[in-house]
Amino acid sequence: MKKIAVVGTGYVGLATGVCLSEIGHDVTCVDVDEQKVQRMKEGILPIYEPGLEELMKKNMEDGRLRFTTSHKEAFAEAEVIYIAVGTPQKEDGSADLRFVEQAAKDIAENVERDHVIIVTKSTVPVGTNHKVKQWIEANLKKKVEVDVVSNPEFLREGSAIYDTFHGDRIVIGAENEQAAAVIEEINRPFGIPIFKTDIRSAEMIKYASNAFLATKISFINEIANICEKVGADVEDVAYGMGLDSRIGPQFLRAGIGYGGSCFPKDTKALVQIAGNVDHQFELLEAVIHVNNRQQVKLVEKARKRFGSLQGKKVAMLGLAFKPNTDDIREAASIVIAEELVKEGASVVAYDPIATENAKRVIGDKIDYACSIEDALRDADIAMIVTEWEQIKTLPLDTFEKLMKTPIVFDGRNCYAIEEVVKHDIEYHSIGRASVL
Ligand code: UGA
Repeated sequence: MKKIAVVGTGYVGLATGVCLSEIGHDVTCVDVDEQKVQRMKEGILPIYEPGLEELMKKNMEDGRLRFTTSHKEAFAEAEVIYIAVGTPQKEDGSADLRFVEQAAKDIAENVERDHVIIVTKSTVPVGTNHKVKQWIEANLKKKVEVDVVSNPEFLREGSAIYDTFHGDRIVIGAENEQAAAVIEEINRPFGIPIFKTDIRSAEMIKYASNAFLATKISFINEIANICEKVGADVEDVAYGMGLDSRIGPQFLRAGIGYGGSCFPKDTKALVQIAGNVDHQFELLEAVIHVNNRQQVKLVEKARKRFGSLQGKKVAMLGLAFKPNTDDIREAASIVIAEELVKEGASVVAYDPIATENAKRVIGDKIDYACSIEDALRDADIAMIVTEWEQIKTLPLDTFEKLMKTPIVFDGRNCYAIEEVVKHDIEYHSIGRASVL
């Protein structure tokens, strides 16, 4: 059992802190946001993540997990400190390391042990861990031996707990073998294969992995766009491709592109990282370009179908960047809503849990419905943006019964064409034949 502190209680920090306490470590999570910390002390999770709140409460009750705003309380006795603060995107696409630097300084001013291991969970550009070590050493108040370890996070929003206990790998990047061994020991109870490497390679593995997954998505979306024109079916094409174990079936779901707090930010950051060493990452630039185009695909299709969208009532089903999350960061819904409003359409959106977050970003430019049915009532067009279970399983006759004209643009290929043809619905999806 190790005495661990986690700096930053965003998505990654919370999932890390809760899961480390679940496997028996003594964890103190520290955040500067007093309100947030107060709520967590009361057992309220500030984010939506299935199962995480229950696990948090359980470990708090068992005395292995606590929350504080005091750096002294968190860092003084900690043997290992995880940095999990945000690395937002700067205007030029590069990662803003302000919070990481601040965390390093806070750590330096409060550590009291003779030796501390700093583990970076935040996604940070290659070379940042070395800077973290320098930032800490430059601000220490006493002599402390500092080791830094890169331990990138690979979990997905919406399945954080599952991924923590069933992930494919844990990557540990370190220069000091003993420090690497300590982090390996901490993680052993997760029962996941551990890969140890040097710090820069570990930092690069995170960016390269996200960039590769984003590439798979943009690739299949381009194939989908071609499928539409040559009369092939992208679902079958992806399935047939995925049977080749070298390609694999995952991340070949064509749709309206990737969103979220990771892929868009990390792909742009990697282009910047490459640019900094005079390398133009043309392939990744194209991946980003394709994704930007794909996000407005449904609007483009509707514009082509109707000529003008002026005065049309559009029911937008789904706002979150993917199902099982209330996160709308970089979600296609935002650009789709903006485009539709610009075209003069009126939009009524429905999402099971992301509505409040969407209101903060999209505001009153669109209306928000409390149910799928309310959104669809008297609509001219339905656009499926997020493949929530309740949207995917919506009986197709609901479109027929409620809409003024049952014309559906499905950005997530939720329905089988064989089912749609049984109904009186005009149906346009991604990379498949339209049903007219
Ligand atoms: C992603 C990675 O999957 C995680 O491994 C990584 O740890 C995380 O980023 C991160 O860097 O923190 P996440 O952003 O939660 O996780 O979401 P994903 O489930 O990967 O989906 C990302 C986007 O890709 C979503 O908008 C989704 O709709 C889209 N997607 C995914 C597709 O359009 N097609 C696919 O086949 C798969």
